Amino acid sequence: MPDAYILGMESSCDETAAAVVRSGEQIVSNVVFSQIATHQPYGGVVPELASREHLRAIVPVVRKALADAGQTYQSVDALAVTQGPGLAGALLVGISYAKALAFALNKPLVAVNHLEGHIHAVLLEERQKGNHEINFPLLALVVSGGHTHLYLGQQRQAGWTYRNIGHTRDDAAGEAFDKVAKLLGLGYPGGPIIDKLAAYGNPNAVNFPPSQIKHRDRRTKGEPVEAASQLRFDFSYSGIKTAVLRYVETHHMQAEIQTRRRALAQVVRPTLDDYLTHTDSQTLDLVASFQQAMVEDLVGKTLAAARASDVATLFVTGGVAANNQLRQTFEREAAMQGLPVYFPSRPLSTDNAAMIAAAAYPKFLAREFAAEDFSAEAGMALR
Ligand code: KG4
Ligand code: ZN
Repeated sequence: MPDAYILGMESSCDETAAAVVRSGEQIVSNVVFSQIATHQPYGGVVPELASREHLRAIVPVVRKALADAGQTYQSVDALAVTQGPGLAGALLVGISYAKALAFALNKPLVAVNHLEGHIHAVLLEERQKGNHEINFPLLALVVSGGHTHLYLGQQRQAGWTYRNIGHTRDDAAGEAFDKVAKLLGLGYPGGPIIDKLAAYGNPNAVNFPPSQIKHRDRRTKGEPVEAASQLRFDFSYSGIKTAVLRYVETHHMQAEIQTRRRALAQVVRPTLDDYLTHTDSQTLDLVASFQQAMVEDLVGKTLAAARASDVATLFVTGGVAANNQLRQTFEREAAMQGLPVYFPSRPLSTDNAAMIAAAAYPKFLAREFAAEDFSAEAGMALR
């Protein structure tokens, strides 16, 4: 099989990204243009602004990915683009551009599910390291700003199939990190900030009882207990966000938060020192305790799902997989179960297009190309 160079494009949320990947196993170039500065004043992603920024960035980002790879529009073998899930208007920018390019260049176009992309980020990097020995069945926790999903993954011939065995009932884990950071006047996106600040607080200072992060059982009374193959491992993170809010109110932290919000808004790109200067020890303790509760819940439920499904391998991927405490805890506890756990490198944990080009490769081999009339699917499921 000769090498295949796939140009991947990703525009599902607040990153405009393009990358060239060789045969699903070697990153040749990887360009990510982040819109954080655009959305920062609003404390979250503003969908219309995201679409406009994608429109501005997509052509130069793709050009740079080709130039960095020493490739041209003509020399790549295929194009790949994220079809969903994500913000509809944002997805449409990448899809329209990819369709026009594929048409003009007469190249095949592969439509990729963003969540499958996150899973393939792990595979891509393992292959790049020379590890072709991933054992099945495989369980993947995709944990990001929009998702907290557990998938059982199987490789069938060239392609992949997935079965969802758990998801969040309300907020995604990354969303909880972002909302708590916003609530505490720490800015956006919250995950990376909380990750850094948590190291300076006492994780046992505030107790978040499991009742604040549990969900109501889906079974109604009298229904039989689900068989092992049907067991579900759902998450819920809106309760812990409310618990943080209640803590802030009962401990009268609002004035301090306002002062911090104003002070940090004056700084263009706040450094860790800037955050530490403006964050009191009570807030550091709260942040550390929040992160610990999140990590314990994510790790506990995922490892319970891994045991129940008797999987051979665990993948943890998506933006929140960049979290230091989450990685360390998964590594320690999975090792105790004798379960190999793999993460993407930090740059490949958050949104990028290398993962889209990698996920497209098996579809390219199977000649599963996008239909001419395919469109964005904001709520696209992974199967
Ligand atoms: O995968 P991603 O880039 O975009 C989505 O598909 O959502 O994930 C972004 C999310 C945000 O919620 C961000 O706060 C979170 O990932 N995140 C983190 C860290 N880095 C990014 N959460 C916790 N710790 C981090 N180090
Ligand atoms: Zn993502």
